[in-house]
Amino acid sequence: MGISSNPCRFPPNFALLSAFVVLACFAAPSAGNFYRDAEITWGDGRAKILEGGRGLSLSLDQYSGSGFQSKNEYLYGRFDLQLKLVPGNSAGTVTTFFLSSQGEGHDEIDFEFLGNVSGEPYTVHTNVYAGGKGDKEQQFHLWFDPTAAFHTYSIVWHPQRIIFLVDNSPIRIFNNHKSIGIPFPTSQPMRVHCSLWNADDWATQGGRVKTDWTKAPFVAYYRNFKIDGCPVGTSGGSCGFQSQTQELDAKGRNRMRWVQQKHMIYNYCADVRRFPQGSSAECKRSRF
Ligand SMILES: *[C@@H]1O[C@H](CO)[C@@H](O)[C@H](O)[C@H]1NC(C)=O
Repeated sequence: MGISSNPCRFPPNFALLSAFVVLACFAAPSAGNFYRDAEITWGDGRAKILEGGRGLSLSLDQYSGSGFQSKNEYLYGRFDLQLKLVPGNSAGTVTTFFLSSQGEGHDEIDFEFLGNVSGEPYTVHTNVYAGGKGDKEQQFHLWFDPTAAFHTYSIVWHPQRIIFLVDNSPIRIFNNHKSIGIPFPTSQPMRVHCSLWNADDWATQGGRVKTDWTKAPFVAYYRNFKIDGCPVGTSGGSCGFQSQTQELDAKGRNRMRWVQQKHMIYNYCADVRRFPQGSSAECKRSRF
């Protein structure tokens, strides 16, 4: 485990209920169900719930992409999802898994998977917006083929830090540096959003490689939608998740260092051309 957390928390008073929760936790680690937890938001039939709610496919053709979102909004939580990305020539396609609030000055935590021509690696794009302001991009290549099998991608959104994980390996931490004036998402509830869309005007090698529509429809698969978080409305905005520290342990720190040294391809903190006046203040702080 990359980060220390307690996946099965519950209030101490409900002894009977707790017994069931314990059973549920250990018997079947709360398998998500897309019928119960998600709603298809766009794509006119291109998004399909599969296997009785255990899986979901998104597709993209020349006319439209597709997408879904979580039914609930959350204020903090850990969000896990398994994805199998568009195989073959996926240049120009963008598969997403992100959290976002609504309205002006929105908060957002992004995982975006930028397709590529056959045999070339996907780019995993991450970003954090707070109060409508982003510019916190880090990008990675993966150490496996993300189209050959399902892999788990996770977003941990905690009051103190945001952690991006791939197969439980932390790849990025964005710490809360509000105290030195760096915006951080702390008050606007967010929903999980996922989509498959076309962005060949910028996604693949800066828009130079165009989508090959003879390969359409492009399909990405999602499964094991798992949320351990604080749904807004039912828990009054606070829940056990927030009292877990969600800090990286030594193993997690080493693993993240390895990913960043070997597989990071872009870091806004190091982009002096884009930020000639110097990188943002959080870049000078310890990454851990
Ligand atoms: C596609 O492959 C090229 C060449 O390996 C690589 O530089 C680039 O980062 C890859 N990703 C995208 C989205 O273009």
